[in-house]
Amino acid sequence: MIIHNAEFICSNTSYLKCPDERIPEYAFIGRSNVGKSSLINSLVNKKGMAKTSSTPGKTQLINHFLVNKEFNPWHLVDLPGYGYAKTSKTNLVKWEKLINDYLLNRKNLLCVFVLIDIRHEPQKIDLEFLEWLGENALSFVIVFTKSDKLTKNKVNQHVKVYKEYLQKDWEEIPQSFVTSAENNLGMEELLNFIETNNQLIPS
Ligand code: GTP
Ligand code: MG
Repeated sequence: MIIHNAEFICSNTSYLKCPDERIPEYAFIGRSNVGKSSLINSLVNKKGMAKTSSTPGKTQLINHFLVNKEFNPWHLVDLPGYGYAKTSKTNLVKWEKLINDYLLNRKNLLCVFVLIDIRHEPQKIDLEFLEWLGENALSFVIVFTKSDKLTKNKVNQHVKVYKEYLQKDWEEIPQSFVTSAENNLGMEELLNFIETNNQLIPS
C-alpha cells in the first residue's frame, strides 16, 4: 500500500470521544517502551508524528492518526503502554479502564497489534494480555519489535521460543510479524496486512 499522507488527529481520555467510527482502525499496544510510537512512525514513514521517548510511559492517552485521508482512509491508534514499574496503583486502575473500555467498545477496531520486544523471554504480562484478548474475542496479531538489536539467527531462535510458549495456550498459533523501526524491516508486510483488512469491511 502506498502511504499518501498521515497526520495526528486527536488525543482522548475516553473511547467515547474518539473520531469517526466508520474508518477502519488498528491499535498498537504492548509494554511501555516496546516501540509502539516508533513503529507507527515507521509504518507511515513520518518521524516525529507519534511522540517517542527512551523514558517509559511517554504515551498516556488514546492517540488517533489518520492515514490516506482522501482515499480509503484508516486510523492508527497509539495506546499507553502497560507494565511500567513506576506507575502508581491509581494510574494502573485508570489505565486498565481506559484500555479495556476502548478495546471492548470501539466498533471499527479491526485488529490489535500486540508489540513484543524480540530480545526478551516471553513475559507473563504479555501472555496474560494475549489471553485476555482471546477471551474477549478481539482480533490481534503479534508484532515483534527491535529486531535490529539481535542477529538474524537470534531473531529466529527467539520467535521459535515464543511460538512454543503460545502453543501451550492457543490451538492455533497467532499470526506474527518481525519488525524494526530502526531499519524498517517488516513494514511492507504490516501495510499489506492492513490493506487486506481494510478491504474486508464495506465502505
Ligand atoms: P511508551 O509510549 O512510553 O509506552 O513507549 P513506546 O512503546 O511508544 O516506545 P517508543 O516508540 O517511544 O520507543 C522507546 C525507545 O525504544 C526509544 O528510545 C526508541 O528509539 C527505541 N526503539 C523503538 N523501536 C526501536 C527499534 O525498532 N529499534 C531500536 N534499536 N530501537 C527502537
Ligand atoms: Mg509511545
